[in-house]
Amino acid sequence: MLYKKILRPILFKTDPEKIHHFVINMLGAISVVRPFYFLIKKFLFIDDPRLHVKLGNIELKNPVGLSAGFDKDITAPLAYPMLGFGFAELGSITNSAQPGNPKPRLWRLPKDNGLIVYYGLSNCGSLEAARKIKKKMQKRDIPYGISIAVTTGLEGKEMADDYVRSFLDLYELADYITLNVSCPNVAKCDVFAQVSFIEELLQKIMNIVSAQGGPVFSGKKIKKDIFIKIGPDMSYEDLDKVIDLCLKYEITGIVATNLIKNRSWVKKFESSPEQLNHPGGISGKHLQDRSNKIISHIRERAGDKLKIIGVGGIFTAEDVYVKMKAGADAVQMITGFIYGGPLTIRKINKGLLKILEDKEQIKN
Ligand SMILES: Cc1cc2nc3c(=O)[nH]c(=O)nc-3n(C[C@H](O)[C@H](O)[C@H](O)COP(=O)(O)O)c2cc1C
Repeated sequence: MLYKKILRPILFKTDPEKIHHFVINMLGAISVVRPFYFLIKKFLFIDDPRLHVKLGNIELKNPVGLSAGFDKDITAPLAYPMLGFGFAELGSITNSAQPGNPKPRLWRLPKDNGLIVYYGLSNCGSLEAARKIKKKMQKRDIPYGISIAVTTGLEGKEMADDYVRSFLDLYELADYITLNVSCPNVAKCDVFAQVSFIEELLQKIMNIVSAQGGPVFSGKKIKKDIFIKIGPDMSYEDLDKVIDLCLKYEITGIVATNLIKNRSWVKKFESSPEQLNHPGGISGKHLQDRSNKIISHIRERAGDKLKIIGVGGIFTAEDVYVKMKAGADAVQMITGFIYGGPLTIRKINKGLLKILEDKEQIKN
């Protein structure tokens, strides 16, 4: 209430990217002060065995994660358990540091409960990301995924090796890795979303992961969970091929989905044509239905052989429940958190417990 009525109107008056940086820097500063961290986490983090979920080898205390793109530069990694998230995906990180697209590159669509995002994979690069993770994340209260994407401007034949370099820089430091092949905001995004490229990438990555029980880091063999993040614009024919590749290469699962690139399948926007007249992918409410359909489709085709992280248009506990009913094992969100404020994840987890209790009562 306080956030929606007072704080959000103030924050939403300022340039969205500036506010994004301001908030994330504040979160970074607060979360490293241990008494603040513990106090806030005690209130916001719901730890109830009924919410525990297993995602491959990863144990989650609740199924609601932060999606990739909120913390692109590993600025505030400790803030996410403090805010109640059960896990967080950092990045996306590319092998070379890059500035992303020219500003402005983030716009709000309040009437559509969404955002237009055109960052274009701005980030500090995989070596710097690894340095920050080592420095800032020695203590971890939740599992962290790292999303890796391709450095902009490379030719198709150079792309898979670029992912591999980032993968080797970051693999040891992540609880899981997501291969982002669906950023809609960079040149040649059609190339890395192609099924033939995805096959080449999975082959290279899984060769490293499977080699004699996993690659060796610091004298130890480690095997970690690998996900691939797909976009919502993919045809069902291509989606089936990607699901089959995930099964063939035995990766852990799929993150579904990234931002909407093709706006023509959104039935009706409430925002004005001027508000929509920006380049970039759309997040939030309009993604919900499409992402739920894709999740159901993956679950139907893959059975329980793949884990699914459902993303797109989550605002409430009911939205999470619908995604999990469709087949998601866990979920991630950004836009609903930006619109809902700091109590959002607590409310969602409390709401999920209430839904479970109500279902239990009906059964009895
Ligand atoms: C500001 C912003 C930046 C994003 N950057 C990335 C990114 O770097 N990598 C990625 O895989 N997805 C990125 N995304 C997409 C989100 O991870 C998510 O898939 C999408 O926003 C749908 O979820 P939502 O409706 O809960 O926001 C970004 C989204 C937003 C809003």
